[in-house]
Amino acid sequence: MTRILDPDGPGIAAAAELIAAGELVGMPTETVYGLAGLAFDEAAVARIFAVKERPTFDPLIVHLPARAALSEVAALDKLHLRAIAALDRLIERFWPGPLTVVLPRTSRVPDLVASGLPTVAVRMPDHPAAQALLNAVGAPLAAPSANRFGRISPTSAGDVIAELGGRIAAVIDGGPCAVGIESTIVSLVGPPTLLRPGAVPAGAIDEALGAPLARGVTPTTPLAAGMLPQHYAPHTPLVLFGDLPASLPAHLGLLVQSGDAEAAGRALAGRTGRRVTAVSLSADGDLVERARRLFACLRALDDSGAGLILAEDCLEEEGLGHAIRDRLRRASSR
Ligand code: TXA
Ligand code: MG
Repeated sequence: MTRILDPDGPGIAAAAELIAAGELVGMPTETVYGLAGLAFDEAAVARIFAVKERPTFDPLIVHLPARAALSEVAALDKLHLRAIAALDRLIERFWPGPLTVVLPRTSRVPDLVASGLPTVAVRMPDHPAAQALLNAVGAPLAAPSANRFGRISPTSAGDVIAELGGRIAAVIDGGPCAVGIESTIVSLVGPPTLLRPGAVPAGAIDEALGAPLARGVTPTTPLAAGMLPQHYAPHTPLVLFGDLPASLPAHLGLLVQSGDAEAAGRALAGRTGRRVTAVSLSADGDLVERARRLFACLRALDDSGAGLILAEDCLEEEGLGHAIRDRLRRASSR
């Protein structure tokens, strides 16, 4: 049984006690729910990989209670002066918040956390329950998104239960995630490089750094799993709208970026003669709302019984639009 804990004093204390004992707890953050365990405890970290069925070549993000904890996990002395200055600017501007930075790691970080890379990914979440938990535990927490590997990220405690219920000790119910899409990942090992588009627009990072981030993956860039072609995926096959397959199942799921879901559903039903379950990310097309609702809408369509999901692509290519496009592509590539 997985306990559902309130994000209040007793709930946080209970969660901290479980984590200190080496157990795993679903932790709300502003982006998505994380599966939290002690980052310095190799057994707890191994349990995270096992529970998620995650391959060990896919490293974890370490969450910090405060900037002061950074030196426990990151070997700042191994950074170039220019990278230190960049790190200062990014932390100043974006922490706490949905920006993850990749830095050289200290020997305290188990190999397993970093999948053997010489680096570690770190962030300081901007969520009161996550911060309370980190402070109560008093140690960095490794926390990947609390879904089974390759699946849709959870944005509510119920989603965590649907993914990992029975496999973890507890989940803190902090309500729906305000951002709904994962942190942006930037490597500061070598020239500042965007490893995963996410909640912080790359343009805002360019601005803070005073120079554009390197983009796109090079063979020397450490693998970020979000880079795997198939990720964030529903069980139901998903195609980006436009490439309507020749044979359609009797029941279609439809995801539109904006406007009225029912009208879009009726139009598709008329065109195809199929039953359609339609959802709209945002009635008025608001990009922030679309990002916040993306994973929950994918999950709802996945659970609707549809045999195929048709998703309208996001036309905005920058900022949150970049992140939404990235997630939809990875949800669809099969
Ligand atoms: O918003 C988020 O970042 C959420 C919340 C829970 O904090 N976490 C999250 O974790 O998205 P996860 O495990 O689903 O994705 C972490 C990504 C993976 O793609 C992983 O490969 C990458 O971070 N990563 C971790 N350590 C890395 C490293 N040392 N170098 C490059 N990429 C790394
Ligand atoms: Mg994930």
